[in-house]
Amino acid sequence: MNDSSKARGKFISFEGGEGAGKSTQASLLRDQLVGRGIDVILTREPGGAPGAEEIRQLLVTGEPDKWLPMTETLLFYAARIDHLERTVRPALEQGTWVITDRYADSTFAYQGAGHGLARDVVQQIHQVATNNFWPDLTLILDTDPESGLARANDREAAISEMKREDRFEKMAESFHGRLRQAFLDIADQNPNRCRVVPWGGTINQVADHIWQQVAVNFGLPQ
Ligand code: TYD
Repeated sequence: MNDSSKARGKFISFEGGEGAGKSTQASLLRDQLVGRGIDVILTREPGGAPGAEEIRQLLVTGEPDKWLPMTETLLFYAARIDHLERTVRPALEQGTWVITDRYADSTFAYQGAGHGLARDVVQQIHQVATNNFWPDLTLILDTDPESGLARANDREAAISEMKREDRFEKMAESFHGRLRQAFLDIADQNPNRCRVVPWGGTINQVADHIWQQVAVNFGLPQ
């Protein structure tokens, strides 16, 4: 039910390369917000709605060269529209905050800088598909690509081959090397929306750093 007396919720995205610890940090941030009485949902891309989760399977499994960069981009946006319209926007309108593990910056980094699709082409697709909808705050978890990939590969190795979601992990090292710089460039170009979270430190230290950024940004009691 739509409660129009409530302020619109805030939309926060976590971004970064493979194995940066986004999902752990996203759930720790959710706990902090819930502790302050804020309604929060945690979601992810590709996915976050039933149709988008079906599209996710097409994207994250199989061989690295399964899709052409443009096909891949359009599949991410097909999933993104479903996620936005079915999950994100309805929640925000009800006053619920939404934390997503990845959003459109991932497309600019992976399909743009990673696969070489021109930035303005991705921007045009983003405009048509989302009406240029961006998070209120984006936390970019910086990571050294080598140790991040090693962590992501360890995680996948524990999963049976049929169920592995490792299509992107299997892409060339040079691809992953470009991602780190791409995310740092995105942060430089969008200083009002993006905060870079430096890598290193314990999970709790990183979580504290993130909480400071979020509390300051939204004027929440620390
Ligand atoms: P995910 O399962 O969230 O991987 P991770 O645990 O590394 O965050 O995302 C699946 C993969 O999809 C991930 O390797 C990044 C990639 N991706 C893109 O290439 N473009 C996109 O727009 C998004 C949202 C994800």
